[in-house]
Amino acid sequence: MLLDLLHWLVQPATLAARRLGHAGDSVRLASRSRRCRAAWAPHLAAAKDAVRAAMADLPRRETAVVLGAGLLDDVPIDALAAAFRQVVLVDAVHPWRGRWRARRHANVVRLTFDLSGTADLRLGRGETFGPVLPPVCREADLVISANLLSQLPILPVARLEAAGRLGAFTDPDAFGQRIVAAHLAALADLSARICLVTDRDETEEDRDGRPIARLDLLYGIDPGPAPRSWDWVLAPFGEEARDRRLVHRVSAWPDWRPPA
Ligand SMILES: C[S@@+](CC[C@H](N)C(=O)[O-])C[C@H]1O[C@@H](n2cnc3c(N)ncnc32)[C@H](O)[C@@H]1O
Repeated sequence: MLLDLLHWLVQPATLAARRLGHAGDSVRLASRSRRCRAAWAPHLAAAKDAVRAAMADLPRRETAVVLGAGLLDDVPIDALAAAFRQVVLVDAVHPWRGRWRARRHANVVRLTFDLSGTADLRLGRGETFGPVLPPVCREADLVISANLLSQLPILPVARLEAAGRLGAFTDPDAFGQRIVAAHLAALADLSARICLVTDRDETEEDRDGRPIARLDLLYGIDPGPAPRSWDWVLAPFGEEARDRRLVHRVSAWPDWRPPA
């Protein structure tokens, strides 16, 4: 707890990212990923593998963009930096661990951007959604959405629930659904190859593997049939509760297209 507080204080985050809760979330993600290293290893390896598959036969390799780059736990940054002239890492916060992992690559740049399009709404500076992708995505050859999609609605929906209203938005589920849909619509509109990796639902299980609760992390939005899927033990027994664990179903599309 105290370590997390210190980590938050030295986190290289903007004032807006601190006010909006992204800095705190990034600290908690880093702590959990350290604690759950063994449980997360197969998931991180599978996610990296999907990105490698997306790069494999790409004819033009000028610019790759990583959305939700974060700690770079699930992104093969060395392979990307070697393959592309430029790699742009996009996140609300670029924590020290991600910076450290990319430190050797002069062609890796960082961009701080709110990918939910709701920062102004949440800061009381606007009445509606802002852009959900930075302009660099338009000129990219590969855009990777790296375990980001399910995360996008979390803080905005919590803010709406606490405030009761954000701009014209009052229904948390409709708001969450709109954020998820906006990300997929913006990706679908790009000419780049899209590599989409996302968790889709969460199951809480007891020690006998019985499901206790299930949660649709994408608010009913279906990105389509996935060529790759796996389970990610997000919280093994003992992490959140002694006799309960949280398992996320993850899907990956090395070459995602919107469902017809
Ligand atoms: C579960 S992590 C993804 C894992 C990440 N690829 C890694 O290897 O650490 C989700 C990432 O999305 C970022 N994120 C969440 N909401 C965001 C937003 N509105 N705008 C930009 N980034 C956001 C978080 O800061 C975090 O780094």
